[in-house]
Amino acid sequence: MPSQTRHACLVTGCAGFVGSHLTDSLLAMGYPVVGVDIRPRNEAHNLSGAFGNPLFHYLERDITHHEVLASASALCGDIRYIFHLAAVVMVAFSMEHPELTMATNYTATKALHEEAVQAGAKAFLFAGSAAEYGDDPRLPLKEEYATDATIHNSPYGRSKYLSSSLMQNSGVGCSLRFFNIFGPRQDPSSPYSGVVSKFITQAVDGKDLTIFGDGGQTRDFIYVSDVVQSYLIAAGIVPAPSTGVAAPLSGIYNVGTGNSISVRELADQVVANTGKGSNVLFATPRAGDIYHSRADVSRFNSCTGFQAVVPFAEGLDRTISWMSEAQ
Ligand SMILES: NC(=O)c1ccc[n+]([C@@H]2O[C@H](COP(=O)([O-])OP(=O)(O)OC[C@H]3O[C@@H](n4cnc5c(N)ncnc54)[C@H](O)[C@@H]3O)[C@@H](O)[C@H]2O)c1
Repeated sequence: MPSQTRHACLVTGCAGFVGSHLTDSLLAMGYPVVGVDIRPRNEAHNLSGAFGNPLFHYLERDITHHEVLASASALCGDIRYIFHLAAVVMVAFSMEHPELTMATNYTATKALHEEAVQAGAKAFLFAGSAAEYGDDPRLPLKEEYATDATIHNSPYGRSKYLSSSLMQNSGVGCSLRFFNIFGPRQDPSSPYSGVVSKFITQAVDGKDLTIFGDGGQTRDFIYVSDVVQSYLIAAGIVPAPSTGVAAPLSGIYNVGTGNSISVRELADQVVANTGKGSNVLFATPRAGDIYHSRADVSRFNSCTGFQAVVPFAEGLDRTISWMSEAQ
């Protein structure tokens, strides 16, 4: 399809880790993209490639200030694909700021979703989370395990659950419930950053690694390029591998690998692969953190044939290389 016939896309949270990779992929496929993010343009370092692309428009904006879609459409015409990633993303921060978390992760999602429904958007993709399952011990976690009765360990988990339920109950839109995403551009600077990026930065610097808890906690880690591919399939931008048909999905789907490794194993692998001799230390567990997490990926797989393809060790090496160069 020639690029001028591509429908425009909105990516909220475009300056972040996942949003910037998704933006780059959409632009590479010839889709015009309006990227919305609260970060000022000069702090949106992940978008250095996108800023040089005439198909890209940046809108510095807080998503809690409504009419986001109307403002984005004013820049780029009719927007048909909406990828909604902007959020309060840190569990611990959400415990300290429950109202801001609910306003950003749920109320703003509801408003954007309403705008999208009224505009007749073709696809609405919400970034859900494994945190929606609380500390449910039934592994692997199936989509139907998260219910109104689930005890969410944090406002983050609760707000994501409410927004995913909105996709399900309205019959419009799709929530992809991501497990632990890792890869280049994940910000290691915050105390609550993704554990992979944090460990790698510490190890590359020759510092010791600190595990909160005993290290036995497990996570289902999925590499960022697999996440981008899951978005493109769920939006109906690329055909589902199993059917060859490109069509937007609705409902809730786990996105992970279906496998898990412990935080201790992760720390040991990072120390071994960076070769700087860091020690692994242990500290008090953090409030709101869940212990075990692993996705049942059968729903998304049976609908689309999607499977994560980047092995954990390869993703880790790519991330270590990127972070070593970025230092
Ligand atoms: N990274 C993971 O492991 C993971 C796992 C499950 C779900 N998710 C979800 O995926 C999405 C993307 O996560 P990420 O890891 O790329 O996070 P990130 O922090 O790198 O990106 C989020 C972006 O949203 C922006 N943002 C935050 N509040 C905003 C607001 N009020 N208005 C406009 N922009 C705002 C931030 O500036 C940031 O650029 C989030 O919704 C997150 O909850 C991530």
